[in-house]
Amino acid sequence: MRYVGQPIDRLDGVAKTTGAARFSAEYPYPNLAYAALVHATIARGRITRIDTGTARKTPGVLAVITHGNAPEMKPAPKPNQFDMSTLAAATSVNYLNTDEVYWNGQPVAVVVAETLDVAREAAYLIEVEYAEYPAAVDFAAEEGNARPQKSTMLSEADGRKGDAEAALADAPFALDLRYTTAQVNHNAIEPHSTTAYWDGDHLILHEGSQNVAWVRDHLAIRFDLPKQNVRVISPFVGGAFGGKSFVWPGTVLTALAAKVTGRPVRMMLTREGVFRTVGGRTPSIQRVAIGAQLDGSMTALIHTSVCQVGRTGGWSEQVTSVSRHLYDAANIQVQQNLVGMDLLANTIMRAPGESIGSFALEATVDELAYELGLDPIELRARNEPARNPLDGKAFSHRLLMECFEEGAKEFGWAGRPQEPGSMRDGRWLIGMGVAAAYHPAWRFPANLTVRLSDDGTVLIRCGLHEMGMGSATAVSQIAADALCVPMAAVTVAYGDTALPDTTTAGASSQTASVTASLLAACAKLDRAVFTLARKTPGSPLRGLRRADVTARDGGLYNGSRGESYHDILRRAGRASVEARVGADTRLGEIADQVRSMSKFLLDRRRWVKAACGAQFCEVLVDSDTGETRISRWLGVFDVGRVVNAKTAASQLRGGIVMGIGLALTEETLVDPRNGRIVNASLSEYHVPVHADIPVIDVRYLDDPDPTMPLGVVGIGEVGVTGVAGAVANAVFHATGKRIRDLPITLDKLL
Ligand code: MOS
Repeated sequence: MRYVGQPIDRLDGVAKTTGAARFSAEYPYPNLAYAALVHATIARGRITRIDTGTARKTPGVLAVITHGNAPEMKPAPKPNQFDMSTLAAATSVNYLNTDEVYWNGQPVAVVVAETLDVAREAAYLIEVEYAEYPAAVDFAAEEGNARPQKSTMLSEADGRKGDAEAALADAPFALDLRYTTAQVNHNAIEPHSTTAYWDGDHLILHEGSQNVAWVRDHLAIRFDLPKQNVRVISPFVGGAFGGKSFVWPGTVLTALAAKVTGRPVRMMLTREGVFRTVGGRTPSIQRVAIGAQLDGSMTALIHTSVCQVGRTGGWSEQVTSVSRHLYDAANIQVQQNLVGMDLLANTIMRAPGESIGSFALEATVDELAYELGLDPIELRARNEPARNPLDGKAFSHRLLMECFEEGAKEFGWAGRPQEPGSMRDGRWLIGMGVAAAYHPAWRFPANLTVRLSDDGTVLIRCGLHEMGMGSATAVSQIAADALCVPMAAVTVAYGDTALPDTTTAGASSQTASVTASLLAACAKLDRAVFTLARKTPGSPLRGLRRADVTARDGGLYNGSRGESYHDILRRAGRASVEARVGADTRLGEIADQVRSMSKFLLDRRRWVKAACGAQFCEVLVDSDTGETRISRWLGVFDVGRVVNAKTAASQLRGGIVMGIGLALTEETLVDPRNGRIVNASLSEYHVPVHADIPVIDVRYLDDPDPTMPLGVVGIGEVGVTGVAGAVANAVFHATGKRIRDLPITLDKLL
């Protein structure tokens, strides 16, 4: 392969760095109006009065929409795991079609005005009165009301091998620990924004999205339109991380505002607006208990969790999933619980489940290593399974211990004294920590077309999403290699529902999903072009068999006999040849879905597939103030085949940065009296900035997974897993203090 594996610059890099890339709030429209939201200030209740008089009289205001005057919308469909598009609704609330309030921050009015400033100013002038109902908003206080989570096709909520409680009670060494992690919220560089307009009964939307087909399908339902009447355009997305997977109120209400005013309308959420109307990562309470023999072999592993969901919706996370896969314990029990809260629906955020689950598990494993006087990597090696520990399924591929070995060598792990508090540089206590990273590999159906034109260029049309990770670049590399054409000849059209529905940019699945279809389409195209060549009179390939012909240098050849694609198509009098993967009729779509779902389930019965890795971290802790700085980071990953060495490293690095935020600074504070997020801004919610992040050394073993398309395993999420565990373990090594509650802020170290 010529291009796959190379550190190729992103094709959209220049457009993005020069400002030429157009994001959803940057499309110019004549006569554009602006919309702003008014948020409820109670957790639960009913609106008894809304005074919009002053707002409506403000010069420049075009409309004030409330439940009193909003046009009727259809309710969100009931979520059904067999029809993925029903999962698109972030909440079940029919916004502005009800006087009920379900969370503090729910939109209760929309102001549309000639300018952004007038819309936002007038929104402040609206007065709302409520009848308040009792509400459950304090997660810590609701722990006792948690109920067992139900398993779905996408997430198993419990599992058991042997009798872990009994084995724990009998174990010569046992730890039984409680961990908590804070709610954290989405803060992508691009806050959620929508530009919407109606062209008769067609709705056109510019929206940064991880799943344009979901946005289209959902809006078609809400506005009672055939789905071909809705078009969602989303070529650039300024970061998403799960926060732009589902359809949040701003999107629906911008379309509504455009309908009411008959104008193109733009809504740009403020940073506060994102906190109030886009869900975050659930807080968690976790129990991890491990029993072990003197030699470190685990006899019992118990991992349970309590998370929250909103009463109107929310993703159920697979917090304990890492404990199904990482350690060869003789007895295992995992079990997840949920408590319903009168808060905004929580949502997925980079490695939902594994990011916080791996914190609790990996901190406990480290603690056990110290109890036993073993090196934490040696303890892991002694419990490395040959097959999936919970159910004995085969791993498709797993180089976890190889990651630890390479990392230990590169990081200088062996030279460190194991005694906590034994390394110091002046005021700074120095600590080193390690943890395993782990994230399952997913693949979903993807439709696309590949077209070869008589000028030798290749156009790939697919509704994939470019959130900043270099998706189109990777796809171009793969297609150029598959068709043996120069990368410069390949163009990818993406981020638009006018293209074939591809797949979600989530669950680290997009590249693997698209690759499978892309390779199939390229093979189809190759056959079609060859057939054309061998049948065309005068063709140098006439009468040959495909096996006698090689694709190279943008054409088909048998030794020196053959010709370029350009000449093949010209000779045959064809402007282009196209191959399609995926149905283009509704019936065909359903057949495709059934086929791919049965393949998917069969595959999951046979294999456990995942990306994994080893996170190495060095921290400095100020012995007087408790301030923690990350001074060195190394991550070594097994992510199957690496398609682009440069963008892959960026993905993994970005995950690690997000994990450092989760470990040290990020914490959404919810007022326990009224469910209001009190730090809904970047000045009071601390994401890591450049000064917080050292050089991050990322390596990967680049070993293709034999069961995945081209050997590709997802890389978007594994980088964040294990990070908080590695930080907590390093903090212990520096200070001798075990902090089991995230984030590890300095007050906890004093
Ligand atoms: Mo990811 S949290 O599946 O965008």
